[in-house]
Order: sequence, then structure tokens, then C-alpha cells
Amino acid sequence: MEAPPLVVFAMSSPFVQAVGTCLFAAVLYLLFAVRRSALSRTSLPLPPGPDDAWYSPGERAPIKLAELADIYGPVVCFRRGKQILCVINRVQAANEILQKHGAETVDRPRFIAAGEIMAGGMRTLLVGAGDRIRKLRRALLSQMQPSVAAQYQPIQMKNAKTYILDVLTDPDSHVAHARRYAASLVMSMTYGKTEPTYFTDPEVQEMALHGTRFGKVVRIGAHVVDNYPILRYVPFVTATLRKWHREELQLFNSLVDGVRNKMENHTAQPCFVTYLLERQQEFGLTDNELGYLAGSMFGAGSDTSASAISFVAMAAAMFPEEADKVREQLDAVVGRDRLPTFEDMKLLPRVTAFFWETYRWRPVSWGGFAHRAMKDILWNGYVIPKGTAIIGNHWGIRQDPDAYPEPLKFKHERWLNENGNLRDDMSYCNFGFGRRVCVGQHVANNSLYINTALLLWAFNITENPKAPIDTMNFTDTANVRPLPFKAIFEPRMDNLQDIIEAHLG
Ligand code: HEM
Repeated sequence: MEAPPLVVFAMSSPFVQAVGTCLFAAVLYLLFAVRRSALSRTSLPLPPGPDDAWYSPGERAPIKLAELADIYGPVVCFRRGKQILCVINRVQAANEILQKHGAETVDRPRFIAAGEIMAGGMRTLLVGAGDRIRKLRRALLSQMQPSVAAQYQPIQMKNAKTYILDVLTDPDSHVAHARRYAASLVMSMTYGKTEPTYFTDPEVQEMALHGTRFGKVVRIGAHVVDNYPILRYVPFVTATLRKWHREELQLFNSLVDGVRNKMENHTAQPCFVTYLLERQQEFGLTDNELGYLAGSMFGAGSDTSASAISFVAMAAAMFPEEADKVREQLDAVVGRDRLPTFEDMKLLPRVTAFFWETYRWRPVSWGGFAHRAMKDILWNGYVIPKGTAIIGNHWGIRQDPDAYPEPLKFKHERWLNENGNLRDDMSYCNFGFGRRVCVGQHVANNSLYINTALLLWAFNITENPKAPIDTMNFTDTANVRPLPFKAIFEPRMDNLQDIIEAHLG
């Protein structure tokens, strides 16, 4: 005889019937609850923004995006094709969204042209969430955290002295001298280069060329494949990008090969690349990943630091009464017979306040870099949907009147408390946000400290009435670069060159 069908058996027991009814009710309830929660999420509106279905801020986008804050508030959303963009223009909202939701915003939107094709998916800045970015950041942070960053101070001091001597000899080229400072520092830190670096060195020129190409392609919507991804399969559309990738990879790998050869001959200076080569397996890096990791330090750290130093010189010329207050402290703490050094840093809070205010006044990564929401993010009764590109717009944030009263004024004292020490309750939003914050920020801050201290200690800097400075004359790139400008650099001591040359180290 055939066994009775299970369902008939089940329905035949009153106990099982009761359990079945309960389960059915529970499933119904769960379905209802899930649907209600999904509805409540999706029924939340997007933060406000221009309704144009294809809003394009166009050139100098960070300025236009900052202006939207006056109309729509601290967080603005709009669409570009299928992509939703969310722009944050105020400090508190940046903290609430990008800092608090760091784990959910660690991803990057797709950068098909600049990231996937031109960098073969290996440029740290553009790598999305996952194992690769974890291992790249782990390797970088192990060599850039504050205690390790301090080891680069002697190289920074040496190169900062060269910068001051270069400005003394040829003040009109001070912007180029700052670029030489930063290039030289990164080449020493990364590849252990000991001979003097000049911006005209072939490998530095080539690095700079790749940086310029990257800066152009990385801007949102700059390349057609980012708007129409299908075109990446049309060879001629991406031919130039692929050629640029081959050239860049070859340069990066050849620089690593140079260090590898020196290691074999026992002539290599300890540097980032020797460190990586010794631990290549531990970090799980392929040769090409290692090449890119080292090579992208130049792109990420060189022009950015150089631009920030030149903005300090610009601020000193534009706001001499602010710079004079810093000089008073330098004279009291250091005097004029010796150079300010890293050991003086704690006693010179005005130096730090001056470059922090410069970060705010002219942020180098002015539009910030886009993160990507990996989940719906609820904020103030709005939803920022999963997949949204979220941009902390440094240019807008710097004008936040709640965080920085009278934001358009340059006031380095806003960073000091009533005792004249640095405040610890304010952020300068210069290095991005959350889990993608700049890994080189401590190295960069040390560069800015020593160059600001030396520059203001060595020179009275003023605007030349015959060559007024246009403080908005900088490149329209992801990281801006001030175009060459002139100022008067008047040495504050007759024997400036002697004092600098007499300083050991
Ligand atoms: C004043 C100088 C600098 C500025 C203004 C700056 C700014 C930034 C910003 C805004 C980001 C993106 C953060 C985000 O996505 O939220 C970033 C990322 C990065 N920076 Fe810097 N940076 C500077 C110096 C440096 C230096 C000296 C190095 C290394 C030597 C460096 C290495 C990097 C790297 C590797 C990334 C990618 C991190 C990632 O995407 O996870 N930066 N930087």
C-alpha cells in the first residue's frame, strides 16, 4: 500500500495544524515587516538638488557645487544619467555621512577610463572596496603612520633647506622650487634616491607627465567610456588610455627594478620599495601591484604637497599681518641665529595654524574624491541610496559658516584656543574622509610644517604691486596647482645663506 501524502498526514494532526498556522502567520508577518521596512526606506526622498535630469556643473565644478549649498542645504543630490551624485558641502554632514558611515562608504564609484584602463585597476586612489584596497592600504599605512612618518623628517629638513636656498637665489621661480622639494622628497622616500633631484630629471618629468594625464582623465565624465561603458570594447576609443597604461607601468616597474638591482649589490638605501620587496609575499603583492603602489606615491604625494607649499607662500604675500604674527612667535622661540626645526614644532602652534588655515583657504584636492555608498544611508529624513557617488566637496566645506565663522577671511587664529595652543575640536577637511582618508597626511603635514616655518622665518613676503597675485589662478584639475606667480621675498637676515648652510643634517 502507498504511504499517505505528507500534506494529508500533516493536516490530519491537530497539533501540527496549530504549528502550521503559527508558522504561516509568522511568515506573513515577516513578509509584511520586510515590505514595510523596504517601503519606508525607499519612500524617503533623496536629499534635495537641481531637478534637471542631467545637471552638469561643467568647468571649475567644486565652486559651482559649493554654490548649491545656499539653495539646497548642506547635502545636495542630483543625477547624471543613471548615476546619483551626492555632494556634501558642510562639516557636520560630512562627519555624519562619510565618517560615521566609513565602512559603508569605503568603496569608489567606477572610474573606467582613469582606474580600470589607464591604471589596470591598480592605482590605490581609485581601487574599489575589497581585498586589493585592504592590502594596498595596509602596506601604505605601515610606512606612513605618525611614528614612521617621523623617520622622513631628516629628508624633509634637507629638502626644505634646499627650497629656501632656491627661493633666495631665484625668487621668481618659487613655485617650481616647491615642486622640486616635493619631487625630491617622494623620490627619496619611495626609491631611496640620494643624489639631488631636479624637476628636469627625465624620470621626474615622466612621472609628472603621467600625473597630468591622470589628472585630466579622472574628472567625472571627462572620458566618453565613463558615460558609455559599452564603448570600452571599441578598441580605438580606448587605444590612447591603454598606451598610457603600458608606458606608466613600464616606468613604475623600471624604477622598482633599479632598487632591486641595488639591493642585489647591497647598495640600496632603505626606502618604501626596499621595504615592500622584502615583504612582497607577506603583503601578497604582484610585481605590477608593487610597481603601481610605489609609483602612485609620486602622483598622490608630490604635486599635492608642492601646491600646498606654494599656497602658503601666496597666503603669506596676501595676508602679511597674519604672517607677521607667526614671525613674532618664530623670533621669540627660535631667534634669528638658527633655523627652526622639527623639535620646535610644539612651541610653534602659529606655524601649524597658518598652514591649516591655508589648507582651508585654498584646498588642493578642492573637490574631494568620490566615495560610493555600499548600502542605503539614512540621513536627516533622507535616503542616500546604495550605489550613490558621495563627494565631500572640500571647496564647499571650507566655507561652512558654522564650523568656520567669517569663512572668507584668512584668520590663522581660528585654529588656536585662548591659551594660544592648537584647538583639537576642529577639522581642516584637507585629506578626505572615513576609511579612504589620505594615507600620506602625516608626511604631508610634516612637509607643510617645516616649509612654512622656514619660509616665514627666512623671508618677509609681500605682493609685488607691479605683479598683483590672482589667488584663483590655479589649474582646473582634481588636485589643483597654482600657476606661477611672483612675490617679493625679502631675506630677514643678511647672512641667511650662511645660517642655512651651517645647519647640519
Ligand atoms: C597636501 C598634500 C596632500 C593632500 C591635500 C592630499 C589629499 C588627499 C585626498 C583628498 C585623498 C582622497 C581621500 C578620500 O577619498 O576621501 C588622498 C588619498 C591618497 N593620498 Fe593624499 N594628499 C596629500 C599628500 C599625500 C602624500 C604625501 C602621500 C604619500 C606619499 C599621499 C598618498 C595618498 C594615497 C596613496 C591616497 C589614496 C588612498 C585611498 O584611496 O585609499 N597623499 N589624498
